[in-house]
Amino acid sequence: MKIFIDTANLNEIKEAADMGLLDGVTTNPSLVSKEGHKDFRSMLEKICAIVDGDISAEVVAVDCEGILKEGRELAKIHKNIVVKVPLIKEGLKAVKIFHSEGIKTNVTLCFSASQALLAAKAGAYLISPFVGRLDDISQNGMELIQQIVQIYQNYDYETQVLVASVRHPIHFVESALIGADVCTMPFKVIEQLAKHPLTDIGLEKFMSDWKKLQK
Ligand code: E4P
Repeated sequence: MKIFIDTANLNEIKEAADMGLLDGVTTNPSLVSKEGHKDFRSMLEKICAIVDGDISAEVVAVDCEGILKEGRELAKIHKNIVVKVPLIKEGLKAVKIFHSEGIKTNVTLCFSASQALLAAKAGAYLISPFVGRLDDISQNGMELIQQIVQIYQNYDYETQVLVASVRHPIHFVESALIGADVCTMPFKVIEQLAKHPLTDIGLEKFMSDWKKLQK
């Protein structure tokens, strides 16, 4: 399963990339705004220079023509740019056209299996179901991942399932058990993945026992 970081913070991207485990980056307008990147293009160029993998860049237009115009410009920035498109009717129209032009898309804000099926039919490269936001409204987000993976397998769709809105390591492990293709996470969750209190306690004991030998 590929690991993406879900942030527009360049220091976090660098730090995660240094761990040697990063396969890509997802951003969205809220994350870009949070970091105060007024120059979106320059931010994307910097990210592409740090990570050699899929870099999702979201359009802000909500009509097909506008999405196509923005997406084509974004795709010119770097070969690794994946144009992130909202899962609305106009977005699906644009995804179909991008697909015919060889432009990769990440269809975002997916909250149902029917939406995911339409995105695959339109030719999406990635589908982003938001598990944490479903959990927030008492709907099991991981059940949706299970349904989408099953549906895509039934019909051999090539669209990759990217688990988004991940809040904790259990989302990550369940994504892998289900067979999702990608999991995108905030930096904090990536750090949590390697952490275990028994590892820390065990290491401390090994070190103190070793020191006793040196006395
Ligand atoms: C996905 O690509 C989105 O950027 C992201 O995962 C949304 O997560 P949130 O629900 O924590 O905002």
